[in-house]
Amino acid sequence: ELYELMHASRMEIDSIEYVQLQGWIRTNRCSGKLGFIELNDGTYFRNAQLVYTQDLKNFAEVEKYPTGAAITVTGKLVLTPEGKQPFELQVTEAVLEGDCDRDYPLQKKRHSFEYMREIPHLRPRANSFYAIFRLRSVLSMAIHEFFQDQGFVYVHTPVITGNDAEGAGETFTVTTRDDAEYEKDFFGKHASLTVSGQLHVEAFAMAFRDVYTFGPTFRAENSNTTRHASEFWMIEPEIAFADLEDDMNLIEDMIKYCINYCLENAPEEMKFFEKMIDKECIKRITAVRDSEFKRMTYSEAIELLKKADVKFENNNIEWGMDLQSEHERYLCEKVVNGPVFLTDYPKDIKAFYMRLNDDNKTVAACDLLVPGVGELVGGSQREERYDVLEARMKEMGMESESLQWYMDLRRFGGCKHAGFGLGFDRMLMYLSGMQNIRDVEPFPRTPKNLVF
Ligand code: 4AD
Ligand code: MG
Repeated sequence: ELYELMHASRMEIDSIEYVQLQGWIRTNRCSGKLGFIELNDGTYFRNAQLVYTQDLKNFAEVEKYPTGAAITVTGKLVLTPEGKQPFELQVTEAVLEGDCDRDYPLQKKRHSFEYMREIPHLRPRANSFYAIFRLRSVLSMAIHEFFQDQGFVYVHTPVITGNDAEGAGETFTVTTRDDAEYEKDFFGKHASLTVSGQLHVEAFAMAFRDVYTFGPTFRAENSNTTRHASEFWMIEPEIAFADLEDDMNLIEDMIKYCINYCLENAPEEMKFFEKMIDKECIKRITAVRDSEFKRMTYSEAIELLKKADVKFENNNIEWGMDLQSEHERYLCEKVVNGPVFLTDYPKDIKAFYMRLNDDNKTVAACDLLVPGVGELVGGSQREERYDVLEARMKEMGMESESLQWYMDLRRFGGCKHAGFGLGFDRMLMYLSGMQNIRDVEPFPRTPKNLVF
């Protein structure tokens, strides 16, 4: 495979007699006597350079192999110390495995990302997407290794659930019909797609202490931004005997670990992003890996926003308001110029499960804001006191019946605990500099976008 060959030593290459490669043609140029094919075999970001001559018995056909076609080639490796690639393959045999029709959309010219969103079944073959989808896979492994190395247990929380974990009413109902009865269509009960695995993973933290879930989540919010999708992946750890401070330390450690892991395990892809997508990306994330994250309270942030010498679209800055993305971006991009934790938000703009602070006005919550993306992580210490939680739910007008199981966790050995949710797709945007969440998801689902 190309990946192995590209990482082999000169001596190893020299000692190989013949190799076989299989893959897809990126380009095929032929001068009549001598031809060059750039082949991507799927194992590596870079292409193999194939050289063929009239010695090839099917030269006349090979010369016409189109971009996009799938082929198998056999040949001899020749070291090319002068060239772009460490070696080229002199083809002795070429077989066409799958021809490619001439209306194949991915010809040499660059297409807009908007256009590529209309062909999600083909776009993984284009460089930007090839790079981002490999990074997606590498980042998944980074997350698992980070947690597994520390003994966290991976929990598969359900996708179909009876609870709206965030209490924000942004759920998709699970149904097989479209009549008025659909509300109770899960065999007579109401069910929806999960917006967060948090409540379920909390139950497991009370048995395994340190746990995480990592899977798809769904939000029915009708927001058409570059950072919101209807379906996205979220990493949600939950740690027992831990407070907000421990939670923030875990967030910071995890992000730094992931940055380092991606730089080490996807170097070609990261170099590509630096060259083609965001010139600062490697410098930016390396600096983040090597510095301490800033922290400030929501109240401090409000004071800074009041004093800001910019005009916000929403300029009514007052304590208690929900920060808009323009405010968040001002804080991380202009004030801090890097990641910043905002903590201790007013309870009225946060979810019911967050632990009430002693001031009775704020909760032990943290959001991590990062330049270019805005909110990357939302976390909190959880309310472990039964009466306080019950009172809070009443105050918010929540019916507690379907959440009795969750409240019971507080009656049966419930302890201090905390956790967070990191938006996996936003993390990919942050690492690569890609500007739109639709371009880091294999088959994006947004209110105005459902191709296949
Ligand atoms: O802040 P959120 O809503 O927090 C929770 O769901 C908690 N239950 C997490 C927890 O404590 N276990 O979402 C967490 C993160 C956000 O910071 C954001 O990065 C991402 O999930 N996110 C989205 N990403 C893409 N599209 C959307 N519509 C998103 N909504 C949230
Ligand atoms: Mg949030």
